[in-house]
Amino acid sequence: MYDMYQENILDHYRNPRNFGALDAPDAAATDVNTLCGDKLGFHIRIADKTIADIKFMGQGCAISQASASMLTELALGKTIEEAAKLEKDEVFAMLGIPLSASRVKCALLSLKVLKVALYEYMGKKYDGD
Ligand code: FES
Repeated sequence: MYDMYQENILDHYRNPRNFGALDAPDAAATDVNTLCGDKLGFHIRIADKTIADIKFMGQGCAISQASASMLTELALGKTIEEAAKLEKDEVFAMLGIPLSASRVKCALLSLKVLKVALYEYMGKKYDGD
């Protein structure tokens, strides 16, 4: 059962979706997983209060990169409000495998960076949840 999820994670890691940068993004943020030093950033294009385009860039382990790749697909087309409300459990469900405490940090880095970018765009401060 986990094999299918493992395969999916590796596929996103090897063939990341929406990897790259946008010219003059409307919202952007970068952060680092302090446990390992891996970095992740998002560039987001917003039109009509909706995520019209989204790219990520970074380097890190399979879990962090795959979760970012999956998150771009999940967030694309959502309104800013909807995307800013995405929850940890949705990221865990996408990954679909049990995660140790340090892997949880890897998995949630992308969600944190996405939220920081969107909160900043909305003029609010993201304090974590
Ligand atoms: Fe660095 Fe996972 S080991 S983000």
